[in-house]
Amino acid sequence: PKLKIDTSRHLAALGDLYGIFFEDLNHAADGGLYPEMIQNRSFEFCKVDNATYNATFGWSFENSQAFHIGEDDPLNTKNRHYLDVKTNEDAAVLMNAGFNDGLFLEKGKQYRFSLFAKPLDNHLKLKIAILNSKNKQIVAPQEILIESKQWLKYTFSMEPTSTTDDGMIKIEFPPHCHVLVDMVSLFPVETFKQRANGVRKDLAEALKALHPKFMRFPGGCLVHDGTLNIDARDSLYRWKNTIGPVEQRPARRNNWGYNQTLGLGFYEYFQLCEDIGAKPLPVMAAGYDPHHQRKAPLDHLDEWVDDALDLIEFANGAPTTKWGKVRADLGHPKPFHLEYLAIGNEEVGEGFRERYPYFHKAIRAKYPSIKLINSSGPFAGGGEFELGWESAKKYGSDLVDEHYYEAPNWFLANQHRYDAYPKKGPQVFLGEYASKDNKWYNAVVEASYMLGLERNADKVGLACYAPLFCNVKYANWKPDLIFFDEKQVTPSVNYYVQKLFMHYQGTENVDYKLTGTPEAKMIDDKPLNGQFGFEADQADIAVTNIVYQDGNQQPQRLADQHLTGRKRISLNKMVSQSYTISFDLTKTGGRPDKGGHLFFGHQSDGNEMMWIL
Ligand code: AHR
Repeated sequence: PKLKIDTSRHLAALGDLYGIFFEDLNHAADGGLYPEMIQNRSFEFCKVDNATYNATFGWSFENSQAFHIGEDDPLNTKNRHYLDVKTNEDAAVLMNAGFNDGLFLEKGKQYRFSLFAKPLDNHLKLKIAILNSKNKQIVAPQEILIESKQWLKYTFSMEPTSTTDDGMIKIEFPPHCHVLVDMVSLFPVETFKQRANGVRKDLAEALKALHPKFMRFPGGCLVHDGTLNIDARDSLYRWKNTIGPVEQRPARRNNWGYNQTLGLGFYEYFQLCEDIGAKPLPVMAAGYDPHHQRKAPLDHLDEWVDDALDLIEFANGAPTTKWGKVRADLGHPKPFHLEYLAIGNEEVGEGFRERYPYFHKAIRAKYPSIKLINSSGPFAGGGEFELGWESAKKYGSDLVDEHYYEAPNWFLANQHRYDAYPKKGPQVFLGEYASKDNKWYNAVVEASYMLGLERNADKVGLACYAPLFCNVKYANWKPDLIFFDEKQVTPSVNYYVQKLFMHYQGTENVDYKLTGTPEAKMIDDKPLNGQFGFEADQADIAVTNIVYQDGNQQPQRLADQHLTGRKRISLNKMVSQSYTISFDLTKTGGRPDKGGHLFFGHQSDGNEMMWIL
């Protein structure tokens, strides 16, 4: 067939179509992109985060009676627990093996150790070493002298003499000492783009390699599953808790069943977006938790609306503004160029829809150029879904967030989902989607679905696969785009589809005409006696001029098909390893929202190939 491209007519711009969505589930941040190596560095783990936790989770001890959790003399009000260490005639040892039952440390690389300490009696010396499980020394012991009477940070760099993946940090306390300890950290000196408190280099490189146009953050349900009190352990995600010195960020219950240090906070996120060339797309809680029907009273919604306005100022405001100055003081005087903001995640209920307009109106009034994203709840097609779209149309949201995780067949059957969407009004933000597995078939199906997104770029503004990361030791959601452990990164096959589309995303759709006959070749590893079939989801596809040619033999013309469902054409003969089928297709009318696809294949060994219309 000949493809004729007509560039004279300008169709839809593809804009920022393909991006990524980061949520800290599967330990994507702590134990993942955020490269702190010590698990429970500030002794803040608790049962609210996870029923198996306590304040010493992740730590082990020698001479354990020397160690207690204290609360009376905290490092600061946001970091309330610490370790109170009091030894008698014996020394005591504190150990941590990180998130993956062993620290992965590489020979020749630098790691920064730090802790906060406050001696209650005399000054003392701590001995810090890293050993592997066979008690071999990976880092020669170093001593730090603790003498200030106040809480003080002590830090030094260490370089392993050999590589290990089962390292354990050991801190030895001398006999007859009494000292308070908090925020024990081991952090690689090398981070992505060498940012302080930066992100893990190999994982961030995998993101950059995608060429995403935007990055949605920080969730997901993580944003809107929580209580309304900003100081509560299980509060909704509040961005103001995530900036500034890490020891002043309150640890938080992550609704995915673990502790979130917030070490990877909003400043680090904006910085990462800049470093990978993606536009930020934050998601704000709307003062509403659809999981537990918690609602901030409408007459007390200002606090929540201000959070949104202040975040915009934090990202874009001049250093002379209140929040622009906070950003500048953190080291980034230039703006982060925030363009998108989502209010709510995957929202259902009147509780959200009555709160959304407060955010919408206040943000529109102060920042009219910010593109606002409304929510249509989970899974396309439900009753709430329509209500989300109604709200978006009523208030003039720029985009509406749609989410779906479905079987591959759903994606095939819904190839044309967006053909029928209106060309005017809010665009779709496909904020979460995946076909349910990480097999190559899922990836191919997603690729074909993405063609439908591109074709409808006038209606679909943004789209991102979800979830992004999975630490293989902590999988609580599958499929995912990128798997990793402490040593390596293993992108899924779906990742490569995303990469392909992001790398080669065009700027606008063009008109084209396909003339001639499409031709397909199947190469098999064995001869077969098969049947070929065509299938359509709607009764408006004619398959004509079907010509089958086996190797060099004479072409054989097969019967025309008018499809009302699956139809098979029997060959009743052995076919060779390479054969060609050509056919013409005519597709007329039909219900565009219903979609349709054409499969073409043989059944003898259960394999099918398909073309998507
Ligand atoms: O991506 C995983 C979860 O799926 C998100 O947190 C939520 O928005 C959706 O239900």
